[in-house]
Amino acid sequence: MIKYRAKIDSLGNYVPKKIVNNFDLEKMVDTSDEWIRVRTGMFERHFADETEAASDLAYKAAENAIYNSNTTRHKDIQMIIVGTISADHPFPSAACILQNKLGLKDIPAFDISAGCTGFIYTIDIAKQYIENGICDTILVVGVEVLTKLINWTDRGTCVLFGDGAGAAIIKRAESNDISQIIGSKITADASEWELLQQKAGGSRLPASHETVDQNLHTVYMEGNKIFKHAVKSMYNVTMDVIKEHNMSLKDIDWIIPHQANMRIIESLADRLKAPKEKVVVTIERFGNTSSSTIPIAMTEAIKANQIKRGDIVLLTAFGAGLTYGSTLIRY
Ligand code: UT7
Repeated sequence: MIKYRAKIDSLGNYVPKKIVNNFDLEKMVDTSDEWIRVRTGMFERHFADETEAASDLAYKAAENAIYNSNTTRHKDIQMIIVGTISADHPFPSAACILQNKLGLKDIPAFDISAGCTGFIYTIDIAKQYIENGICDTILVVGVEVLTKLINWTDRGTCVLFGDGAGAAIIKRAESNDISQIIGSKITADASEWELLQQKAGGSRLPASHETVDQNLHTVYMEGNKIFKHAVKSMYNVTMDVIKEHNMSLKDIDWIIPHQANMRIIESLADRLKAPKEKVVVTIERFGNTSSSTIPIAMTEAIKANQIKRGDIVLLTAFGAGLTYGSTLIRY
């Protein structure tokens, strides 16, 4: 039973200052600007410095989201959910460290491990807590510092990732509110979970000299196999959400897909029959920032005056697990 509706009240993002472009990467690994541009659509990405961890980026994005909300003070936040696979530590959660940085206490704070779908998962969970009346203001964050988990001897992955964070304040919508989270679906198909993983450092293969020597604490990805799943899974889960709410593709003003590869984004847009002007793309500037691509892109589109209050926006992502999900909102 839905007691209340939830809405995205505000967003904020943060990317570290250091920019690494394709020409910089040419000096570091056997690659080329042309290969990266043609195969991925990326040109530059931001790298955290040695002092910055996930909660530091998350904190800055969260402060920006709070600043951008007219109605939220720190003390109003009743829960913190962070989507990340590159938290400061294996434990405690980045969300708990973020709670402390924000000066908050006595509210639940936890991380969600859903790879690049992390932000979509956090919104789905926040939506439930608001709809059933338990909370009315929740901070959700997608944050990643994957450049610290990169295998620099694997040119197929090391050129893809950047660091960044995006945050949103999810609030209870008033009855006269134009803004609303219309629908959401999160799911996973783990039959091929091995395709994208960090092999060591967990209870399966704890850290040892050998695991470090073999680079097993870094991102392992079979990119071309994942590529094949990406478009189909995002398309299917999107159609599920649209149909469940009796809407059609024509109703959507903006699509914000996970920014992993420009070719994936274009194929998805084709299948969704979306003209390219409706698709928010930031991959050229930020690369793949995993769980933070969507809130970073959405914040940028709002700042650029593209997305406006009342627009219908579709968010969709896929990632390690393999997880995938879509959120349909009226902003
Ligand atoms: O965000 C989480 C989910 N992850 C993804 O969505 C990633 C999805 N996958 C992809 O985006 C693409 O598969 C990649 C961008 C990772 C790779 O593109 P691809 O078109 O699938 O390339 P490939 O791995 O099949 O490699 C093609 C060629 C190979 O050379 P040969 O064997 O054809 O001679 C690679 O060795 O490209 C070569 N290659 C590179 N060349 C220059 C691979 N990486 C590089 C590189 N620079 N950085």
